[in-house]
Amino acid sequence: MSFPPALPYNSRMTSIEQSLSEWGAFDRDNPFPLFEAVRNRAPVHRVTLADGHEAWLIVRHDEARAALNDPRISKDMQAAMAASGSIVAEGLPGPAFARHMLAVDPPDHTRLRRLVASAFSVRRVEALQEHVQRIVDDMLDAIEARGADTVVDLIHAFAFPLPFTVICELLGIPETGRASFGQALVEMLVPTRTDEEYANAKVASDTVVAFLGNLVAEKRREPDDALVSALLDARDGDEQLSEQELLSTIFQLIIAGHDTTSSLIGNGVVALLTHPEQLALVRGNPALLADAVEELIRYDAPVPHSTFRYAREPIELGGVTIPAGAHNHYVFPACNRVWWDNLTFSCGPSKVWTLTQGKSESDGYCTGSPGRSPYTSISDLGYADK
Ligand code: HEM
Repeated sequence: MSFPPALPYNSRMTSIEQSLSEWGAFDRDNPFPLFEAVRNRAPVHRVTLADGHEAWLIVRHDEARAALNDPRISKDMQAAMAASGSIVAEGLPGPAFARHMLAVDPPDHTRLRRLVASAFSVRRVEALQEHVQRIVDDMLDAIEARGADTVVDLIHAFAFPLPFTVICELLGIPETGRASFGQALVEMLVPTRTDEEYANAKVASDTVVAFLGNLVAEKRREPDDALVSALLDARDGDEQLSEQELLSTIFQLIIAGHDTTSSLIGNGVVALLTHPEQLALVRGNPALLADAVEELIRYDAPVPHSTFRYAREPIELGGVTIPAGAHNHYVFPACNRVWWDNLTFSCGPSKVWTLTQGKSESDGYCTGSPGRSPYTSISDLGYADK
């Protein structure tokens, strides 16, 4: 298989200025030359996002790491929206689904994380391993059965259905209705620029809302061993998830549980095919797989930017002052390529504190991070073999 050479950023965008004035509307196949140029100019930039909102962009590792750990930077979206009309709203399906770990600060964050952790245990995840391995094997066998000369769309045949099926199994979403639910999720998350596009996304969002409402009602009537029932039962002392927190958490786990891993598989396959020596290395030594997954996450971050954050007070960062109330936008792929541009599985996992691993060092890594997730480890095993 051969790939066209990567285009330099300015062949698709006219200038860094233009990129900063419409951040997000750039070449997504290879944004790295643009990221490097923006990073070389300054670590922190005032930008307009492609949707018209103002934000402060953080593109260098040291500044991003400092900001992720800075208690003056808040994730409390409801408080931010109450304080300023210019804050980016939570998007579909709306506020009833926006009270989850990614949109609150401690002590609410600590409480939610504890409650979810009590249900989303390592034991529960590990219990899924064998089942997930079977799902991976079946999907890869089905792809192989199409014949060596058949062109297969990796995202449709594997990278989307695998993590989506796994998160559905984990949560206890019955097989009936999964396909239409998945379709509604995809349609709801499509970026909308016109009223008509928004109306279509809203119809899809209503389907998602109804589906999740029915799911919770069903689990209340007939609890099972899966995660939604465990979340309904979750207790931390006298604490329990409210209805809004429960629906928001289920929704967040579904999105976080499939979109991230889909991108990791897609980006990872491209990285392996364009670095055949690294692919050969990991095929020859499966013990390198865990490090390889970490390195793939650093090299081409599956999550392209951070979730919502804003400055509670003016903050000096990278030679500029981010004003109080400003929305911060961390560009993980730009930050993670600060010191190493190459993909190298042989150096071990701790070359850099990969920003895509989580939120802050003290305050909660990604709940599904590869160290404990059957998603990434097993699907990588599958595709490295095949
Ligand atoms: C390759 C796979 C994954 C990547 C790269 C990834 C990346 C991330 C990142 C960057 C964050 C922090 C976002 C921010 O603070 O702005 C995060 C948080 C989170 N992720 Fe993941 N994630 C992955 C898989 C998963 C899976 C499979 C699940 C669940 C099934 C999950 C659940 C969560 C949760 C619940 C949080 C919020 C944690 C907190 O705020 O305490 N993630 N993830």
